[in-house]
Amino acid sequence: MNLKSVAIALALTASLSAQAQHVMDVNTKKLGAPVQSTMYGLFFEDINFAADGGLYGELVKNRSFEFNQPLMGWRAFGRVDLKDDGPFERCPHYVVLNDPGHRERRTGLQNEGFFGIGVEKGKEYRFTVWAKAPKGDSQIRVQLIQENSMEEHQEFVQQKVDVKGTEWKKYEVMLKSDRTEPKAQLRIFLSGKNPVALEHVSLFPKDTYKNRENGLRRDLAQALADVHPGVFRFPGGCIVEGTTLDTRYQWKNSVGPVENRPTNRNRWEDTFDYRYYSDYYQSYGLGFFEFFQLCEDIGAEPLPVLSVGLACQFQNGLDAHAQMDELQPFIDDCLDLVEFANGPVDSKWGKLRADMGHPEPFNMKYIGIGNEQWDDPYFTRLKPFVEAIRAKYPDIKIIGTSGPDSEGKMFDKGWEAMKVQKADLVDEHFYRPEAWFLGTPEAKAKYGNCGALRYDSYDRKGPKVFAGEYACHGAGKKWNHYETSLYEAAFMTSLERNADIVHMATYAPLFAHVEGWQWRPDMIWYDNTRMFKSVSYYVQQMYAMNKGTHVLSLLMDKKPVAGQEGQDGLFASSVFDKDANEVVVKVINTSKQAQPVALNLLGMKGESQATTLTLSWSGSMDDENTLDNPEKITPKAGTAKVSAEKKNSVLNDQVPAMSFRLYRIKK
Ligand code: AHR
Repeated sequence: MNLKSVAIALALTASLSAQAQHVMDVNTKKLGAPVQSTMYGLFFEDINFAADGGLYGELVKNRSFEFNQPLMGWRAFGRVDLKDDGPFERCPHYVVLNDPGHRERRTGLQNEGFFGIGVEKGKEYRFTVWAKAPKGDSQIRVQLIQENSMEEHQEFVQQKVDVKGTEWKKYEVMLKSDRTEPKAQLRIFLSGKNPVALEHVSLFPKDTYKNRENGLRRDLAQALADVHPGVFRFPGGCIVEGTTLDTRYQWKNSVGPVENRPTNRNRWEDTFDYRYYSDYYQSYGLGFFEFFQLCEDIGAEPLPVLSVGLACQFQNGLDAHAQMDELQPFIDDCLDLVEFANGPVDSKWGKLRADMGHPEPFNMKYIGIGNEQWDDPYFTRLKPFVEAIRAKYPDIKIIGTSGPDSEGKMFDKGWEAMKVQKADLVDEHFYRPEAWFLGTPEAKAKYGNCGALRYDSYDRKGPKVFAGEYACHGAGKKWNHYETSLYEAAFMTSLERNADIVHMATYAPLFAHVEGWQWRPDMIWYDNTRMFKSVSYYVQQMYAMNKGTHVLSLLMDKKPVAGQEGQDGLFASSVFDKDANEVVVKVINTSKQAQPVALNLLGMKGESQATTLTLSWSGSMDDENTLDNPEKITPKAGTAKVSAEKKNSVLNDQVPAMSFRLYRIKK
């Protein structure tokens, strides 16, 4: 403990005696609304290099030479030709390495990866390439190199590949790294006399999540699984819409053999010129099949979101969109997706799923139509989608959207339209400051309905709520820090208490590469060899792993504990976990003083010991985990005594200042 923390601790202790006890009545006698199994999920979007360069295990950038500048990411040397009549019709480009013309000269290629190629000591990397030797057998040398090293040799691992025959074939060699190096590069020399043609040059860690060849980066995928998410929304976000309609995410381009998935320009390449990445593309190697498979692996309901025929409304005028008589292909994309996910193996799209290795259906139940659309251009287009999906797949639940704002005229109009169209759920987005999440009087005056009472007043008869994108963005400090994560936890008591209407919630965005981000805060950060989970990650995980099965009423002076006047910055909610037969109580203290709390467990008798999990500050509200200190702030396990009092059991505790404490009590 440093001096500052000691001073804070003393001040807190001194103020304790002055604090009146806050008595919360938790009614364990009556189960409230069931908590949906979809609660507390994840939202994946390829922003911040979340797919290529992130979750997707591929280490080679522009592996198929299909970026707009076909050699971007590559350094070609010697005599290299670029051709476009390759073996994969949707990725036609390839290169030919020709004899350099002198025995002391060289021909080849070097790939820079995504901010370098991250390799780890002792691990193996699978190099694959499609190649042919059009003028007779030849050879290439494949190396992992450290270009800026002072060692005699730049390469630290090398393998030769004999290329035989004039037909395209796939070649594979394993490269075992003798070091951990986040910024290696891949170098390929032509070492035979004859030319060699190369296409789809790929390098993957052998050790991927579930050991799949076209797999995911293990540590990042495991972090997703460790949340125990109820739902997984993909593939975005704005990339569903595209800056232009033809660069929207098209799922049909993301399935089938990876070699033949066309590269797409990422919508986040040029959204912010002050965080510009000219090389931000989508290989679609992490495509819809892989997303469905990931959902299955981590036990989350898949929730794909598809284009409604609108290019990003922020970036375009009305003429950029598909017109009403041009919507059929977009509607077909939705219908065909259900067949791809759920259809029999003898249906067109079901067969493709089976051919890709998954004959069993993925059991998709939800579809989002449109990302963050608004107003009449959206409502009119949505209608024929809803009609077509209802007619063919009446069991599929349709998710519409209330647009980019969390309140206001357009938001209200969106909700009204979703009610008229009978959407099953409405996807709401809110990236808002601290005051909004706390629901301060000033924020209510400015925004309207915000804070932890937000959903208490919602219409119970309309569509359900999907809080599809949200995060607390600190005013003037739009990055991850402890304080905003704590306020997210406080706000989430509202999601929990209103389980009858709030059926899904996903924080956003999920991933960010420390060298390639466009948007923050984010839930999980990484470089090429390391990662850390933000405090917001732990907040989400604490909710997801303790969501229970039914809401329990929790009141203080007969009012919900939602940071209301006289509640001293406390927020709380409670659920019952039928499977574990436990009462779960979440208390968030957003005040700068510890708060004495009594949990009156109505309907419970006797004494026992509760387990606790506490997320608490480390001295500064701006603190956060980092790559160098990934576990600076993590939830800590503990216990608390439950006493037998006259009428019922009572748990007395001091909830530390600025903390989130969760109690589990056996019933
Ligand atoms: O999460 C980042 C972006 O925020 C999403 O792409 C979009 O839906 C929202 O505007």
